[in-house]
Amino acid sequence: MKLDGKIFAVTGAGAGIGRQLAGSLVAGGSRVIGLDINEDGLGQTAEQINNNNFFPVCCDVSCEQSVTDAFATGLDRFSVLHGLINNAGIVSNSALVKVLPDKTISRMSTQAFDTVMNVNLRGAFLCAREAVTWMLDSSVEEGILINISSGSRHGLRHQSNYSASKAGLVAMANVWALELAQHNIRAVSIAPGIIQTDILATFSSEKIKKMRTGNLVNRIGQPANVAQLVIHVIENDFINATVVEVDGGI
Ligand SMILES: NC(=O)c1ccc[n+]([C@@H]2O[C@H](COP(=O)([O-])OP(=O)(O)OC[C@H]3O[C@@H](n4cnc5c(N)ncnc54)[C@H](O)[C@@H]3O)[C@@H](O)[C@H]2O)c1
Repeated sequence: MKLDGKIFAVTGAGAGIGRQLAGSLVAGGSRVIGLDINEDGLGQTAEQINNNNFFPVCCDVSCEQSVTDAFATGLDRFSVLHGLINNAGIVSNSALVKVLPDKTISRMSTQAFDTVMNVNLRGAFLCAREAVTWMLDSSVEEGILINISSGSRHGLRHQSNYSASKAGLVAMANVWALELAQHNIRAVSIAPGIIQTDILATFSSEKIKKMRTGNLVNRIGQPANVAQLVIHVIENDFINATVVEVDGGI
């Protein structure tokens, strides 16, 4: 799929990878509906891109009504949708159950589990359902769904919630690819390694140091490394029903 003249929805466009991605897509000639729960973040993205082809819409991807309303707003503005990048995501790390130094037991809260699953996995499901409905209603000639998964999908310590959500994103994209190939809609997952964004604020500096030296290029990746891959996946229509890594080699 060529970028020029196409319309994409990008979730989590108010910061980090989503902001970079929105900018790269607009630079490639696409129009982007940027969805994010953080209105200020969306404003900063709009300011940075400084182009009418970025259309910000405030939306909580974990809330069905908010997603329905946001896609209806996008539909009012654009007649057709060619792609969705499910990028919005959060972390909330803790051990499933852990004995603390004072011998008390700490447990991952149900809230921490549900919140991460609701944003990362339910949000992707809700957005994909609206996006595909729109694509089919507008008889789009080709479409693409991209889920931003993570290297954590194999299971990382203290990430029962996050790892499960990121594995679920890969499974859902594979399902969508199977179901939607008949409509010329592809679905692909992208699994970044450690990337320099605000999401790292939740990790200790010791952990970040370890992560930095944990790949073969000996550095943390940049949002542009992920955006480049997303664009390659959009443009290369032989990539489908798979997960592509961008992690510096682990
Ligand atoms: N940064 C990394 O190291 C890394 C590695 C692997 C995967 N990822 C994934 O990449 C994606 C982007 O992460 P990032 O590093 O840019 O993080 P980030 O925190 O910089 O940006 C995430 C964006 O998602 C938005 N968001 C959060 N909850 C939302 C909700 N309910 N509805 C709508 N928007 C919401 C935030 O407001 C923010 O703008 C995430 O899915 C993350 O899991 C990141």
